[in-house]
Amino acid sequence: MLRLDGRVAVVTGSGRGLGRAYAIALAAAGASVVVNDLDADGAGETVAAITAAGGAAVAEIAAVGESAVAEALVARALGEYGRLDVMVTNAGVLRDRVLWKMSDEDFDLVIHTHLRGTFTCARAAAIQMREQGEGGRIIVVGSPAGQRGNFGQTNYSAAKAGIAAFARTWALELARAEVTVNAIVPTAWTAMTSTIPVYAPLVERVERGEGLPRAVRQEHAVGMPEDCAGLVVFLASDAGAGVSGQAIGIGGDRLSLWSHPAEVAFVLLEGGWSAEAIAERWGQAIAPSLQSYGIEFAELDLEGA
Ligand SMILES: NC(=O)c1ccc[n+]([C@@H]2O[C@H](COP(=O)([O-])OP(=O)(O)OC[C@H]3O[C@@H](n4cnc5c(N)ncnc54)[C@H](O)[C@@H]3O)[C@@H](O)[C@H]2O)c1
Repeated sequence: MLRLDGRVAVVTGSGRGLGRAYAIALAAAGASVVVNDLDADGAGETVAAITAAGGAAVAEIAAVGESAVAEALVARALGEYGRLDVMVTNAGVLRDRVLWKMSDEDFDLVIHTHLRGTFTCARAAAIQMREQGEGGRIIVVGSPAGQRGNFGQTNYSAAKAGIAAFARTWALELARAEVTVNAIVPTAWTAMTSTIPVYAPLVERVERGEGLPRAVRQEHAVGMPEDCAGLVVFLASDAGAGVSGQAIGIGGDRLSLWSHPAEVAFVLLEGGWSAEAIAERWGQAIAPSLQSYGIEFAELDLEGA
């Protein structure tokens, strides 16, 4: 079993859903955990679950986004447990609207929570980990919506794409300090996903405690939050030391690696490209390589599941 004894982790947004599963799994592996959430009841329940199982955890109630909150989370880890080894920036919120109906407030809240929250928490963690001089792990949280784009998610897909970009940049910047930085791309049945119309036939089944059908777990990579927690423990452990700058998918029965954006076609014209020259060569040189976009769901027959 991979052990994290003596390590200290912060998990933002761990009052329910995926964050709770990460916090519980990190604690079960031996880490001491600062459980953050803006919901005090949820955070308290996560701490209670960890301590009831013999683990160590404290709650720090605050909304991530501002620098002062990030600094307080790191200070709490130091105050309670003397160090910081793992920062998981999981806190998140949705405000879905199509572009032409999205308000400034909906845009700002999602960007503030996900993108700024990840930036401020990772920065505070990087400062502490560099000072400690013993390496560390920063695990940020992307989404298929950020990797592919998704209808109605202007704010969220931009934040999540930005977070995947953070991981690539910070992996470069923190390599010397032996701090790895990876984006995980989780998919799980939580408050965020259980309202997706395609899954409506499954709600009762999950409420009966029967779990999700194999096809959903494998083709859609959707299982329970606990199914995503092993990846966080792996990345936090010594076994994950060589992994950095990656976007790693996890959900249900499926573990995957996402590609990073890369040039897929190019053509050269000495002296540069006029609009007319582009029009002339587009069809032959570039058009065959045009990329698909949007999350692609495998067709599944869920009626009667
Ligand atoms: N569920 C999925 O399939 C899925 C897919 C891709 C990405 N994600 C990402 O995983 C993360 C967790 O998602 P989830 O499905 O567990 O969501 P969730 O809504 O069940 O849990 C999110 C938690 O974050 C907390 N939170 C919200 N804003 C906060 C803030 N400013 N500060 C601190 N806590 C805050 C909420 O109170 C809640 O407890 C999010 O970043 C989400 O975008 C989830």
